[in-house]
Amino acid sequence: MSAFDVLKQRQAVRNYEPREVEDDKIVRLLEAATWAPNDRLREPWHFYVIRGEAKQRYVQMATEYLQERFPTKPHLVKESLAVLETTPLVITVTADIVPGDEASSEDNEYAAACAIHSMWLAAKELGLGLVWRTRGVGLVRDERLSRFIGSPENKKIIGTVFIGYPAAETPATNRKPYDEKTTWL
Ligand SMILES: Cc1cc2nc3c(=O)[nH]c(=O)nc-3n(C[C@H](O)[C@H](O)[C@H](O)COP(=O)(O)O)c2cc1C
Repeated sequence: MSAFDVLKQRQAVRNYEPREVEDDKIVRLLEAATWAPNDRLREPWHFYVIRGEAKQRYVQMATEYLQERFPTKPHLVKESLAVLETTPLVITVTADIVPGDEASSEDNEYAAACAIHSMWLAAKELGLGLVWRTRGVGLVRDERLSRFIGSPENKKIIGTVFIGYPAAETPATNRKPYDEKTTWL
């Protein structure tokens, strides 16, 4: 498959079969991520692999978060938790903060974003489905997730990726033509 084909066929996949992702495939995803571009080769990312018993603890944490955030929406809480419970593998990605160097810290975030995109493309090749989540059960902006991964110093959470074997066809999304988003100077 050409690079263009993989780029165009990548999709946010949110429904998975009830089977685990094999260790060798997890390793391939992590390896793909580490080949992402990054300024001055700081390799400013870290990956927290969450599955099995750790994922059960993640579900508990998400339950607390959702009940606090949506006290009047029990259906939403239930649906969000069902998504999480049927996701075999979760990986949280952080970017290194460089103390006193805002520009480098920002570049590190971009690099970690590239790493997530690389995983996303690799997932496609490995027959896996993946979605990058920040909101809701992604818990990216909730302090609880930081504690969950061990309160690492000088690391900012960039995303939580949900991964598994796709359960069904995902309808394709569309994009505006590039010329609506381009200015030739
Ligand atoms: C930074 C970022 C954050 C995202 N957060 C969420 C999220 O919290 N929940 C979710 O369902 N999808 C999330 N997505 C996935 C997008 O919704 C998805 O990429 C978009 O709908 C386009 O669909 P496609 O990726 O299949 O083309 C996120 C994507 C990015 C890049």
